[in-house]
Amino acid sequence: MIEAPSRSAMGSTGPRRKGIVLAGGNGTRLHPMTIPVSKQLLPVYDKPLIYYPLSVLMLAGIREVLLVTTLRDAPRFRDLLGDGSRWGMSFSYVTQAEPRGLPEAYLLGEEFLAGDPSLMILGDNLLYGARLPEQLRSASEEPTGACLFAHRVNDPSDFGVVVLDEGGRPLELMEKPVDSPSPWAVIGLYLTDGDAPLRARELAPSPRGELEMVDLLGSYLADGVLRVEKLGRGVTWFDTGNPRALLQASHFVEVLQERQGLRVACPEEIAYRMGYIDVDALERLGRELGATSYGEYLRVLAREERDGGD
Ligand code: DAU
Repeated sequence: MIEAPSRSAMGSTGPRRKGIVLAGGNGTRLHPMTIPVSKQLLPVYDKPLIYYPLSVLMLAGIREVLLVTTLRDAPRFRDLLGDGSRWGMSFSYVTQAEPRGLPEAYLLGEEFLAGDPSLMILGDNLLYGARLPEQLRSASEEPTGACLFAHRVNDPSDFGVVVLDEGGRPLELMEKPVDSPSPWAVIGLYLTDGDAPLRARELAPSPRGELEMVDLLGSYLADGVLRVEKLGRGVTWFDTGNPRALLQASHFVEVLQERQGLRVACPEEIAYRMGYIDVDALERLGRELGATSYGEYLRVLAREERDGGD
């Protein structure tokens, strides 16, 4: 959930990097809402949750994305997103039988990745910040090693945590520590090189029975090739794993959109601003959405762009 750059502000996207959205899991912390439907298909204000992490990948310059979902939900995701071509994207799907941990995405996605570096985002993470696309694109330019994104939080005990030295270099990683020695949460956004599947294969399940992302990142740390990007105060991050956070995210989006008159995490607009689709396609997408304010937004944007932009 980040602001789209202006169409003319787009620069190089660095080496070819693929995207993964991890949208499996049982969503048990959101029961009963998620008994019949995946958490990532629930609405955050005016659009499905999955649009927000997908928008982050699109703004990072990524066009090939693998969606990891459950067997039950894969058809719903396909109904919503298709093969991505309407947005000038390419979407592939793979199903995860059980939530055996985040690094399993690299094993399920090994064929899709084919040795390429990737940017993985958790399907329930929302990010908003004007300079974030630039930060992501610049961090993506380094093709080797891994990079995690750290955000200062009040209570890190719900998250992965990274301990940093005075120079901001990573010293230690831990998952959901009771008494965290560091305020820096590891958000659900990870840059890794082509070695991620190999490293994931070496991991053993943690005491809670899952492969842990902090262990995969720890393998890069042990080899001295883990970087940390701190997200500044201008970036807002939500992990929408519980009902309150989901509601807060909806309020946040509503307030921003109503004040600015601009939609956040609107993939159709991002596709246009990134140059993935032209103004005719944008208008067509707006028409397909019929008499909704979302559709109207796309049609007005297309008209304004035809009339010479803002
Ligand atoms: O949100 C950031 C946090 O995400 C990180 O700080 C933690 O280090 C990381 O472990 C993760 O913690 P969570 O407790 O939020 O993870 P959760 O089990 O809720 O899974 C996050 C998302 O990934 C969720 O949308 C479901 C999906 N998922 C999860 C697992 C374990 C899968 O698709 N497959 C899985 O096997």
